[in-house]
Amino acid sequence: MCGIVAYIGPKEAYPILIKGLKRLEYRGYDSAGVALLDGSLRVLKKEGKVSILEEYSTSQDTSGTVGIGHTRWATHGVPCDKNAHPHLSQSGNIAIIHNGIIENYNSLKKELEQLGYSFHSDTDTEVLVNLIEDIQKEDKLSMEEAVRVALNEVIGAYAIVVIDKREPDKLVAARKGSPLVIGIGKDEFFVASDASPIIEYTKNVVYLNDEEIAVLNRNGDLEIKTLGNIQKSPYVQKLEMDLEKIERGGYEHFMLKEIYEQPQVILDCMRGRMNAEKGWIKLGGITEYLPRINNAKRIIITACGTSWHSGLIAEYLIEELARVPVEVEYASEFRYRNPIVTEKDVVIAISQSGETADTLSAIQIAKDRQALIYGICNVIGSSIARASHAGSYTHAGPEIGVASTKAFTAQVTILTLLALQLAQAKGTISQSRLRQILYELEQIPSKVAEALKTNDKVKEIAAKYKDAHNFLYLGRGLSFPIALEGALKLKEISYIHAEGYPAAEMKHGPIALIDENMPVVFIATNMSAYEKIVSNIQEVKARKGKVIAIVNSGDSQIKALADEVIELPETDELLSPLVSIVPLQLLSYHIALMRGCNVDQPRNLAKSVTVE
Ligand code: F6R
Repeated sequence: MCGIVAYIGPKEAYPILIKGLKRLEYRGYDSAGVALLDGSLRVLKKEGKVSILEEYSTSQDTSGTVGIGHTRWATHGVPCDKNAHPHLSQSGNIAIIHNGIIENYNSLKKELEQLGYSFHSDTDTEVLVNLIEDIQKEDKLSMEEAVRVALNEVIGAYAIVVIDKREPDKLVAARKGSPLVIGIGKDEFFVASDASPIIEYTKNVVYLNDEEIAVLNRNGDLEIKTLGNIQKSPYVQKLEMDLEKIERGGYEHFMLKEIYEQPQVILDCMRGRMNAEKGWIKLGGITEYLPRINNAKRIIITACGTSWHSGLIAEYLIEELARVPVEVEYASEFRYRNPIVTEKDVVIAISQSGETADTLSAIQIAKDRQALIYGICNVIGSSIARASHAGSYTHAGPEIGVASTKAFTAQVTILTLLALQLAQAKGTISQSRLRQILYELEQIPSKVAEALKTNDKVKEIAAKYKDAHNFLYLGRGLSFPIALEGALKLKEISYIHAEGYPAAEMKHGPIALIDENMPVVFIATNMSAYEKIVSNIQEVKARKGKVIAIVNSGDSQIKALADEVIELPETDELLSPLVSIVPLQLLSYHIALMRGCNVDQPRNLAKSVTVE
């Protein structure tokens, strides 16, 4: 939520900031702004996307070799020019950009008002910058000391970068609960919410830890200290990210590119982790903890959104294969309901971004209660990856489209391997069944590639149903989480109301909604529930609903009943979610596009949800 970028060095800062903000726009796109320091401190900011700021800036002075930039996902105050970042302190000397929430901003604001400060925005950030100014003025402190003292008074989450026109040769950055990475170039520094704005300038980065403050000096010195004023030596790491991977590469949208990357992503995710021929699976991150995971009385999976859906699939897989009880919890509920967790539990936290605030808090609660935390994240070095005892990366590459696609299939792939490795270790699967599934898993990338060939058919269907006001998605067993995920994809990018349901639950309520205007998407690829799904389809047809059925190729019974049919290659039922999600991703993409929606940046959403 909110993207921040900053630069200090010999180059002009503005082009670096604007390019960086465009890369970070997936984190929020309500407003954007920059502050540039070149003798004077100038702030340019506008409601709306970075391109609006860019257009506005063409008529403005954008010079300066130090600067900060921000793209906002609104929390405090509506999206508008005055609430856009950067925010200036009352004197106009200090400018700040902030990602996160200052929870005690109200009481701080009141104190500052009594001291004569007035506020021009509705944001918590403006309170923070004035708090820094007040501390600096009162105690005659350097900027970094004032920032450190101020942050000790603050409750909440933040990643901030601050500049002061009286100290033009430094940037001060700090984080707690929101990500921040520092890029180290030759006589220059970059700061950003993730590495994407930095990658083309340097591969040397330092990930700032919670409660750390960095001072980036123009002379090339980088100092890091804690909020408690303890010096730290910077731990420089090499970025593995590729520039090519964060560009659209000829596709009209990131979402489409990411949907089409899935065969390769699944392959990359399995690489070196399994061998069907030899019947082995080895998730590197698990080895050290396998005995503890093996003896777990229960596995709790916690996540949000799409990642929660992959957790539901894992519940089916782990219970079926490894016979361990699994509970799947929304992180946002788990963290607030005093859950019963003990040292005998293993908690699997799933997150693409690795920064989701609710998932991070759920981990903390489980950790406090001595559970083992296994993190499944996509973003390397992310907060959840670092907060976990053990874990596996999904290696899906940067996911930029706000609607998660390839990260989901990568998560499901890892979770399938995890379930199989557990089953093997517990002896709940025969070697021949294990090999059979692994062989089938090896075929999944080519079956997903086949599924992508349904694109034209899906597009035709999208054109027919794009004006519907509601959609119902139904599936049984492993296809139920796919129904949920298909519905989520549709609602988040096309703004059509959609619900996912277990197909058998339809008769307990949703059936009342069905009439000739209601498209019902059936995921009917799992053969063990085939006859039951056929009956559910008949129930919908009897009420004149429009049936869009996802079936295995060669199906004839459902084909005869459904209005539309999308045929997919058959696979082992346990692996079917990896294939059946593909046409649903494409369906939401085409419908959103036909309705004129912004596919990669749907309204009100942000890619990385670092607020509760
Ligand atoms: C949906 C989507 C969100 C995320 C959710 C969790 O397409 O992207 O529902 O899945 O915000 O995010 P992560 O996985 O980053 O924790």
